[in-house]
Amino acid sequence: MCGIVGYIGNKQAQDVLLHGLGKLEYRGYDSAGIAIFENGAVTVKKSVGRLANLAELVDGTGRLSGNQGIGHTRWATHGRPSDNNAHPHQDDNGNFTIVHNGIIENYQSLREELTAMGHTFLSETDTEVVAHLLDDMWTGDLFDTVLAINKRIHGAFALGIMAKQEPGKLIAVRKQSPLVIGLGEGENFIASDIPAILEYTRNVYILDDGEIAVLTADAVKTFDLQGNPTEKEVYEVTWSASAAEKGGYDHFMLKEIHEQPKAISDTLTGRISEDGTKVVFDEVQWPAGFASEIDRIHILACGTSWHAGMVGKHAIEKLTRIPVDCEIASEYRYRDPIVSKNTLMVVITQSGETADTLAALRQAKEQGTRILAITNVVGSSAAREADDVIFTWAGPEISVASTKAYTTQLTALYLFAGWLAQERGSVGAAEVPALLTDLRDMPAKAETVLETSPAIETFAKQWSSREHAFFIGRGLDYAVSMEGSLKLKEISYMHAEAYAAGELKHGTLALIVEDIPVIALVTQDDLYEKTVSNIQEVKARDAFVLALAWSGDTEIGKTADQVIHIPRVNPFLAPIIAVIPLQLLAYYASVARGNDVDNPRNLAKSVTVE
Ligand code: F6R
Repeated sequence: MCGIVGYIGNKQAQDVLLHGLGKLEYRGYDSAGIAIFENGAVTVKKSVGRLANLAELVDGTGRLSGNQGIGHTRWATHGRPSDNNAHPHQDDNGNFTIVHNGIIENYQSLREELTAMGHTFLSETDTEVVAHLLDDMWTGDLFDTVLAINKRIHGAFALGIMAKQEPGKLIAVRKQSPLVIGLGEGENFIASDIPAILEYTRNVYILDDGEIAVLTADAVKTFDLQGNPTEKEVYEVTWSASAAEKGGYDHFMLKEIHEQPKAISDTLTGRISEDGTKVVFDEVQWPAGFASEIDRIHILACGTSWHAGMVGKHAIEKLTRIPVDCEIASEYRYRDPIVSKNTLMVVITQSGETADTLAALRQAKEQGTRILAITNVVGSSAAREADDVIFTWAGPEISVASTKAYTTQLTALYLFAGWLAQERGSVGAAEVPALLTDLRDMPAKAETVLETSPAIETFAKQWSSREHAFFIGRGLDYAVSMEGSLKLKEISYMHAEAYAAGELKHGTLALIVEDIPVIALVTQDDLYEKTVSNIQEVKARDAFVLALAWSGDTEIGKTADQVIHIPRVNPFLAPIIAVIPLQLLAYYASVARGNDVDNPRNLAKSVTVE
């Protein structure tokens, strides 16, 4: 949700900023801009549209030389995408230049106040008030002024700031929205996310909520919002820059789909005892007896992570018999949920920065609920604010459409369900050794499922001109259908709906017409016959049914028009591999429709606004 980058050092800032913005474009791609400080003057160049437009503008209007600057790629919240609304923004005199991610909640009243004082606003954004406030509250010292304006602006945001009066200095402010500081030799960096600076350094400070960093070329000092110095530990990034490159694939999404066998394997590594019979979660350090005392679990997440939570609910309830609610984070926090000291909250978030999920986490924390985060990003807000963390080792996920994050979240949830059953001595604990044997087999099975690609590509090409599609299934198949449907919607822009197969006849069957594609999942043996009956119901209305079934299922072809076979696994674990053909279907449909697969319209990877 907007990407910020900043540079100060001895390189050409323009090159570093444009490179960094390229790596952050997944966070927003409505417009982009840079501001470069050179010989006491700041030049701003910005353009609506993709980063390529900015690069063209910069090429066409002359290179900016200067060793200090800030840049931004925008996902519009306040004000439509336009040149004027693109960042960086400045005050009337061009003294203060800022880039911003997040929302300034009280911008309207500040804007009215500043306008009445004679400030002229050039954009419709909430951001611009920050530049004018800096001008209005200028104390003669940039750091002091930043501390002062922070008392006036409300909301969740990250800022990159430079002032004409203080060349050779950048200031970064983090209030809930993520921000890292890259530490180089004679150069330092600001970025919303690590890939933007990985080309230049592996050493970073991950700013805490309510922290300010003051950067010069030679030093980085950090402070709290009261101006007291803070101590930081250097976090060394272990993954390589190439992990955030396409590596020969046409799109990040396709690469990330193919990375799933390894990502699942990495998420299992170190979490199964040597004899293969127990789950080991050294990272979860609960007070003695807590595992037995839990009487309710709330899983909270958004989007794809919420869909993973739906599978997690099945898994945890089956193995532990603890009642589990799985809810959309943005709904949960406004409905006065009932919790007690025996409630465990599990938040699932790939990025660890989703504002809705963090808000629910914080509310639960205030209520004294113990929180376990399942996240992919070390150092993320969720990882730092939860009591315990289980990391999914998916590696960086760049494509906006989540794929390997989902399958590793599922892997982590199955492990957690098994671990909790062990810890509580639940009846389901007896199933854990067999479950672990099956889980260890998942990377190989996922590899085999990827071989369905050509058949799915052909189907996607044939059907991608349709405007509607349905995904149906029962039980775990329904949970996976929800994810398949979301994937298709978000990147192909086809309207898709996931329906519990048994629920269709209660209204939605009215939408089933001749040749409408229905993707039917039939991996749950105990629900097989019921699902086949539901397939027959749509076939009777002349739908075209693509079934997803186990290899060796020769029956399903008698009802469905076409079948994609996947290698048989324990049906309880089917979601981990059954989702892969659905990811491929969405991918190839998107390609066939000529869409921008990795950067679908209106979306951003990390949704840091509520
Ligand atoms: C869809 C997708 C989103 C995210 C959602 C939550 O492909 O990626 O639905 O799952 O925005 O994001 P995280 O998991 O980062 O909290």
